[in-house]
Amino acid sequence: MKVAEVLRMNGGNGDTSYATNSLLQRKVILMTKPITDGAITSLYTSLNNPKTISIADLGCSSGPNTFLAVSDLVKAVNSARKKLRQNSSPEFHIYLNDLPSNDFNTIFQSLHKHQEEIKMELGDGSGPCFFNGVPASFYGRLFPTNSLHFVHSSYSLHWLSQEPKGIEENKGNIYMSASSPPSVIQAYYHQFERDFSTFLKCRSDELVKGGRMVLTTLGRKSEDPSSKDGCHIWELLAIALNDLVAKGLVEEEKLNSFNIPMYTPSPAEIKVLVEKNGAFTINCLEVSQIHWTEFDNDNINNNNNEKNNGGYNVVRCMRAVAEPMLVSHFGEGIMEDVFHRYREVIADSMSKEKTQFINVVVSLIRK
Ligand SMILES: C[S@@+](CC[C@H](N)C(=O)[O-])C[C@H]1O[C@@H](n2cnc3c(N)ncnc32)[C@H](O)[C@@H]1O
Repeated sequence: MKVAEVLRMNGGNGDTSYATNSLLQRKVILMTKPITDGAITSLYTSLNNPKTISIADLGCSSGPNTFLAVSDLVKAVNSARKKLRQNSSPEFHIYLNDLPSNDFNTIFQSLHKHQEEIKMELGDGSGPCFFNGVPASFYGRLFPTNSLHFVHSSYSLHWLSQEPKGIEENKGNIYMSASSPPSVIQAYYHQFERDFSTFLKCRSDELVKGGRMVLTTLGRKSEDPSSKDGCHIWELLAIALNDLVAKGLVEEEKLNSFNIPMYTPSPAEIKVLVEKNGAFTINCLEVSQIHWTEFDNDNINNNNNEKNNGGYNVVRCMRAVAEPMLVSHFGEGIMEDVFHRYREVIADSMSKEKTQFINVVVSLIRK
């Protein structure tokens, strides 16, 4: 699997799009807002009335969340500026990055509307925002040396640059799982270690001294990489796919050669790699969680008030995220069967146990 070619969220604004089904990720951005606001406010204060502020959002995808994080950052600077009674506002250079196959067209078609909204909210006196698209992998250099003040990334860094090597023994699974051999777990960790270290090296070159970076990933609390914390959602998809193999709808070989290129790190793993890189001070490192039921109960189209929506939102969110990757491996024809069965499996799991998505957020300062 060539990850950079097949990994993308469902584009557009339709029923199965990421734009329509990214409530979970929206909640996560809102939950981490105190940390991001705090980081950019300290940065702005330390810059002493700067003329420009350069902000990059890495793994921005397409939809309302693309503008949510960056517009909140601009608003936080504007509030800080007013509190400090500084009349001249900086200009904002905003860079929206994702892989080239991301739906950048949808982003830029709605740019004008978002720019107008930001302008209205900020009121007179705030500097202009200049938006740029940066279509490339964040596991490489994206910006000139010492050119960025702030990097934000939410729910993107758990995606690896490639499938780990040497995981052929992980038969019947599509990700790490309690039944994965230790060599498979190690291969996943090593790929994460390589990727996250490369990411930190690139960003340390691009950020100015004192620059800030707030990263949120899907992660886990447990130190065991195959614990349910980080793996359960994919274990349930593996159950659905195995059922389709049993029905003769999917070839076993196809299932065995499919692997999710993701790693859900613990805070301790993040800390070790940041310290090994050496270019950043950790300002804060936190874990939070969102129960599947809590987010499943938010209405998208459902009009019922049941506590448990039977996995409705959870499966729609997972479809928006994983469908392009599944289509490229298994073909489009099987998708309705896959997601129909996946919803049943998720609903069954949710009726028996409480499961949560774990988020790890780290706020860093460039030394
Ligand atoms: C779940 S979306 C998150 C989008 C948005 N930040 C949010 O919180 O809603 C993850 C995004 O990361 C992007 N991504 C994954 N790997 C990437 C890479 N190596 N370089 C750039 N973007 C990447 C994916 O294409 C996808 O759009």
